[in-house]
Amino acid sequence: MANSFATRIFTTLSDLQPNMANLKVIGIVIGKTDVKGFPDRKNIGSERYTFSFTIRDSPAHFVNAASWGNEDYIKSLSDSFRVGDCVIIENPLIQRKEIEREEKFSPATPSNCKLLLSENHSTVKVCSSYEVDTKLLSLIHLPVKESHDYYSLGDIVANGHSLNGRIINVLAAVKSVGEPKYFTTSDRRKGQRCEVRLYDETESSFAMTCWDNESILLAQSWMPRETVIFASDVRINFDKFRNCMTATVISKTIITTNPDTPEANILLNFIRENKETNVLDDEIDSYFKESINLSTIVDVYTVEELKGRALKNEGKADPSYGILYAYISTLNIDDETTKVVRNRCSSCGYIVNEASNMCTTCNKNSLDFKSVFLSFHVLIDLTDHTGTLHSCSLTGSVAEETLGCTFVLSHRARSGLKISVLSCKLADPTEASRNLSGQKHV
Ligand SMILES: *[C@@H]1O[C@H](CO)[C@@H](O)[C@H](O)[C@H]1NC(C)=O
Ligand SMILES: *[C@@H]1O[C@H](CO)[C@@H](O)[C@H](O)[C@H]1NC(C)=O
Ligand SMILES: *[C@@H]1O[C@H](CO)[C@@H](O)[C@H](O)[C@H]1NC(C)=O
Ligand SMILES: *[C@@H]1O[C@H](CO)[C@@H](O)[C@H](O)[C@H]1NC(C)=O
Repeated sequence: MANSFATRIFTTLSDLQPNMANLKVIGIVIGKTDVKGFPDRKNIGSERYTFSFTIRDSPAHFVNAASWGNEDYIKSLSDSFRVGDCVIIENPLIQRKEIEREEKFSPATPSNCKLLLSENHSTVKVCSSYEVDTKLLSLIHLPVKESHDYYSLGDIVANGHSLNGRIINVLAAVKSVGEPKYFTTSDRRKGQRCEVRLYDETESSFAMTCWDNESILLAQSWMPRETVIFASDVRINFDKFRNCMTATVISKTIITTNPDTPEANILLNFIRENKETNVLDDEIDSYFKESINLSTIVDVYTVEELKGRALKNEGKADPSYGILYAYISTLNIDDETTKVVRNRCSSCGYIVNEASNMCTTCNKNSLDFKSVFLSFHVLIDLTDHTGTLHSCSLTGSVAEETLGCTFVLSHRARSGLKISVLSCKLADPTEASRNLSGQKHV
């Protein structure tokens, strides 16, 4: 119903011609820039504002749109929608695109037109997602480049300096998303920066930097070790300080979150299969460090508070410690698909590859050296009156103690939060209730 209505009143982006008037287009916002102000040459002392975005209405067609105007109009228009929203634009000015000029700073598009929006003539309406054809919504998961047209992170590292300054496409998984940092530049402009760590089958960590609020906002929605991105037209640079290659999100960049392509699905399988190993990679340092002095841990948390902390600290490595009064709501040791006992290399502590019996970290054949030890690796859920933490991993000596056979409990929830259980004992009900009611007054 909505469909036939839609096709009747909207001009498709593929049909746009320069100077067409009185038309209406609909599309999913797939890219968007921050608002920028420029001194107005016609009105000395005042500033004109602008921002641009890219909309798509079919796999093959997307166009750039730009709007200029006073600060209030531009800021409120920009604030009214985000990447992923569907917008209806009425009465845009259709201009011929000067490819070279346009594509220096804006995403490359297949269209020979661009849209110009003005306060007096054009309107932009955001549609709610249930008003929108699912075909349109699914475009958000379609990269704007051929699905195989990308560099792996290993390729970028291998090419090194020869890629310095090049603009390329990258398909990678998100390893962590840093906290946005806000600063003021020497010419008193406000700036922001957020570093995302990427990984794939070929490279375990690769930095991508976002310098604009729109991409930082998008990055904040990504789940470490769950989200895959296709970043089209990111700039590659050699970072002299860190002596490594890095990627930067620029105004030409369009990032597709969780792309629906065969290549992305292969990568997604890789990250799922390696999730536990990767979690263990992260935790192995603490596993072999001196054990933590439990009596120094006094802060009491609820599940809800821990999830809140995870949102704030997402992607940050610093551990924090606390006490959780909860019960084990799932303890699955019969599941064939998850191994509850793993071989660890006694030289370095990493999980030994089951098939080859090799420790890929120190490259010793564990059978030759008889250098493995068994370690529990059990996934449990922890529940209190505020919620449940899923897939906490109970490992090592803590698991041994908890289960009454000789174990450390660690956890990575969907939120990106990782919890290590350092000790797991029956709680005294009086102590638990006093602590839980006590914290309300803090
Ligand atoms: C918009 O319309 C107002 C009043 O109708 C007019 O004063 C203003 O100059 C117009 N702005 C532009 C950019 O045309
Ligand atoms: C980016 O966000 C920060 C914090 O919300 C804000 O202070 C700054 O003005 C924003 N910058 C732009 C260009 O929108
Ligand atoms: C653990 O911490 C407590 C309190 O800070 C201290 O009294 C105790 O000596 C520490 N134990 C060890 C083994 O360091
Ligand atoms: C909270 O629990 C600790 C033990 O974990 C106990 O020593 C302390 O007295 C409790 N606090 C209150 C307010 O009951």
